[in-house]
Amino acid sequence: MTKRWWHDKVAYQIYPKSFCDSNGDGIGDLGGIISKLDYLKDLGVDIIWLSPIYESPFVDQGYDISDYYKIAQCFGTMEEFDTLLAEAKSRNMYVIMDLVVNHCSSQHKWFQEALANPKSEYRDYFYFVKGKNGQPPSNYRSYFGGSTWEPVKGEKDMYYLHMFAKEQPDLNWENPKVREQIYRMINWWLNKGLAGFRIDAIINIKKDLEFPSFEADGEDGLVSCTKMVDEVTGVGDFLKEMSAVTFEPKDAFTVGEVFNMKKEEMEAFIGEEGYFSSMFDFSAHLLTLGEHGWYDAKPVEFKAWRQTLISSQLEAEGIGFKSNIIENHDEPRGVCTFLPDYARNEQGKKMLATTFLTLRGIPFIYQGQEIGMTNCRRNDISEYDDINTHDQYQVALDAGLTKEEALKVCHDHSRDNARTPMQWKATKHAGFTAGTPWLPVNLNYFSVNVETQARKPESLLNYYKELIALRKFPAYSEIFVYGDFVPAFLEYDNIFAYYRSLADTSVQILVIANYGREIQTLPLGNMLVEKVLLMNTDFKDDLRREARGKCCVTLQSCEAVVLLVSEI
Ligand code: GLC
Ligand code: CA
Repeated sequence: MTKRWWHDKVAYQIYPKSFCDSNGDGIGDLGGIISKLDYLKDLGVDIIWLSPIYESPFVDQGYDISDYYKIAQCFGTMEEFDTLLAEAKSRNMYVIMDLVVNHCSSQHKWFQEALANPKSEYRDYFYFVKGKNGQPPSNYRSYFGGSTWEPVKGEKDMYYLHMFAKEQPDLNWENPKVREQIYRMINWWLNKGLAGFRIDAIINIKKDLEFPSFEADGEDGLVSCTKMVDEVTGVGDFLKEMSAVTFEPKDAFTVGEVFNMKKEEMEAFIGEEGYFSSMFDFSAHLLTLGEHGWYDAKPVEFKAWRQTLISSQLEAEGIGFKSNIIENHDEPRGVCTFLPDYARNEQGKKMLATTFLTLRGIPFIYQGQEIGMTNCRRNDISEYDDINTHDQYQVALDAGLTKEEALKVCHDHSRDNARTPMQWKATKHAGFTAGTPWLPVNLNYFSVNVETQARKPESLLNYYKELIALRKFPAYSEIFVYGDFVPAFLEYDNIFAYYRSLADTSVQILVIANYGREIQTLPLGNMLVEKVLLMNTDFKDDLRREARGKCCVTLQSCEAVVLLVSEI
C-alpha cells in the first residue's frame, strides 16, 4: 500500500457553534477555536474538521449554505479564518472543512435567481420538475420528513427537489456548469491552504432523472428517498471527475459521509485510486436505526455491535482506510449508545476509547468525547433546536407514543445531544461563553469538564492523551496504522478482542476489553505477554512486571488492556 500523509493522523471534529465562544454572544466562533489549538495539539490531534462555517440562514445549522465563499458573521471573518489556518500550520496541524454540495440554501443567489426567473440559466442548477397527474413528480419522503417535492409558488404544477429540508434545494449535478462552479470553489479553498474536506451527504448527488415512484414504506404513502439512491447507478462518474480536478492534484485529505454505497464499490471509493481518501464507518450507527423512525429503534446489543465492527474492519483491509467514530454532530453521545448501563462510568468510557482508538483506520474524535460528555435531558420538545428532532418527535406521536415517551425517544436519539456546548470548566455555562449559550449546556458540566480532568492524572481526558500517544509511539505506530486486524476470543460472549499485526514483525499488539459484568480469564495459547502497553484501570509498575511472561490474562468487568505479545 502506498503510504499517504494522512494515514497515521488523528482527527478531531469541531462543531463551531458549540465549541468555544470568544466574544460573549453565546455562539462559538473562530476566535474560540484558535484559542483552543494548544489544547488540541496537547491532546495529540493532527487534523481538525470544522462543521460548516459558511454564510447560512442556519435552518439546518449551516448545512444550508447561502454563500460558499463567505464565513458566517457569527463565526468571525475571513481574516480570522486565515489566522486559524496559519496558527494550525505553525503547530503542524491540518484544517479540513465541510463540503456541502448535494444542496445549497434556498437563500443562495442561484436559487433565488431560479425562482425569480424561470428562464434564467440558474433554473438548471436545480431540479425543477412538473408534477404527474396533479401530484408531485414522485412519492419520496425527505430525510427530515414530508415530501421531497416543494411546490413552486406562483407556478402551476411545478415542484423543486429537496432531499433534506425545503430550504435545502438539491443541486443538479448533471449540469456541467454546476459541477464547474463546485470544483472552482473547492480549489479556491484548497489554494488557501485547506488540507481537504469532509464531504457531506455525497451519495445523494446522483438522481434517477425519471424520478420513479416506489411502493410506500409508511402510513404517509411516501417512501424514503434513499430508495431512489439505492436503485440509481453512476454516482462514481461525478466523484471521479471531482477528485481528478480538485483533490488529487492537491494531495488533499477527503473523508466521505457515505451511506447506501453498493458493497462492491469499496475499492472505487477508498482504494488507492479511490474518489476519497477515506469514508466514515457508520456500520455501528446503522444498528441504532429503527424501522420507522427513532421511536422503534432497539438498544444496541453487544454481540451485534462487535460483529458489525469486525466485519467492517475486515471489509476495508487490503483496500483502504475507513474513518472510525463513536459519535458526531448527527448522533447521540457514543457512551450512551454503545456502553451497557453498568459501564456508563469513567472506566467504561476508557474501555470504549481503547476499542475505538486501536482499530484499523483513522480515528475521528468528536468534541467532548475525550471528556466523556453524555446525552442531555430536556423537559419539553420546545427546548430542542434540531430540525430532525422535531420531525422525529412528531413521527413518534403519530405512531401513538405519549408525549413523555416521545421525549424519551428524543433524549436517546436527538442530534442536540452532541450539540450542547463543549464543557471547559466547572464555572457558569461550562466556561463555554461569558454570555448566554445558544443551546443550554448539559448540567453535568460540573463534574464533566476539561479543567477538572486536566488536573486529575487518571481522568478520561488524560487516558485519551495516553492512548493517542501510544498509537503514535514510533515503535508501535506502524502496527497501529498498517497492521492487520485479526479478531480474537470470539467464543467469549462479552469480550471484544483483536490482534493488530504486521507480516514481518515477530511481536503483535493484542487489545482485549471485557464489556461483560463478570470477571474473565483468557488463555493466550501460544502467545506470551511481552509488555502491558496500557490499561484502563490504575495500574502500578509491579502489575506490569507481573504480567510479563504470562500466558493468560484476567480482566474484571469493564477492564481493557493493550498488550504487546509474541509467539512462544
Ligand atoms: C449530513 C450532515 C447533517 C445534515 C445533512 C444535510 O448528514 O451531517 O448534519 O443535516 O447532511 O446537509
Ligand atoms: Ca461568538
